[in-house]
Amino acid sequence: MSKDIEGKDIEVARAGGAQILRLNRPEKKNALTRGMYAALVGALTAGEVADGISAHVIFGLPDVFCAGNDIADFLALASGNGNEIEDVMKFIFMLPVLKKPLLAGVSGIAVGIGTTMLFHCDLVYAAPNAVFSTPFLDLGLVPEAASSLLAPRLMGPQRAFELLVLGAPLSVERAREAGLVNEIVPAAQLEEKVLKVAAHLARKPPEALAIARRLLRGKQEDIVDCMTKEAQLFKSRLKSPEAREAFQAFLEKRPPDFSKAKAGV
Ligand code: COA
Repeated sequence: MSKDIEGKDIEVARAGGAQILRLNRPEKKNALTRGMYAALVGALTAGEVADGISAHVIFGLPDVFCAGNDIADFLALASGNGNEIEDVMKFIFMLPVLKKPLLAGVSGIAVGIGTTMLFHCDLVYAAPNAVFSTPFLDLGLVPEAASSLLAPRLMGPQRAFELLVLGAPLSVERAREAGLVNEIVPAAQLEEKVLKVAAHLARKPPEALAIARRLLRGKQEDIVDCMTKEAQLFKSRLKSPEAREAFQAFLEKRPPDFSKAKAGV
């Protein structure tokens, strides 16, 4: 396996026809910073046109896939002029227009974008310790990355509501039942399994693969429209008193007090 270091928190490598993007920020549970989004966009962009790469593969670390967006970054976004969110948006809007298949191997916790990016994957394999959650509402936010369209489409409105609104964690077994996870694989074999499937895809005729993928993913315009609506709401919610209180509370390691978070108080 050849290995390139894109940045210390996103490690980019190649194996058997796949480009591997590894989230690698253990000290903050793989929470994604603006720099990490930018590195992901750079690697996906390069991988889309690189000869010898047939698929993108996302891995995290054994105990954590991704703790979602970095909350300190969210707080900075809440106080900024709005441009700071562009790296996040570039990543999100890139997901539905990828031409090459996207695979993920998930171990441990997958929170927020760590779960919603999986709705854009063609194949998701997970270790028995995987658990999925999207605590957007608890942070005063709304669902993103077209999850408000793709989650009900995949798992039905009730299970999607449980995940996206109630914020209830989805166990790996329920994620498999819901169709989010293809297969639960023992932790020690997870990455090998994903890379084996990616190598299998690499032997398929690439044009036919790209066309089939496009057909299966549904109308891109619907997904992009949904992302656009969500993004407008998300940006305005980021600046809401509720969201600021939730971010501040997380960083101060205390429960949020939304009674003080009313607009104008
Ligand atoms: N943004 C910024 N920092 C984060 C983070 C995030 N999303 N998730 C975890 N961290 C940091 C913690 O603040 C802590 O930092 P510290 O050591 O400097 O205090 C470190 O990562 C370890 O996290 P900790 O909470 O101690 O680990 P845990 O195993 O007890 O819990 C989580 C892990 C992911 C369940 C918990 O950290 C969490 O709920 N994170 C927030 C998830 C979230 O709401 N993401 C946004 C979704 S939209």
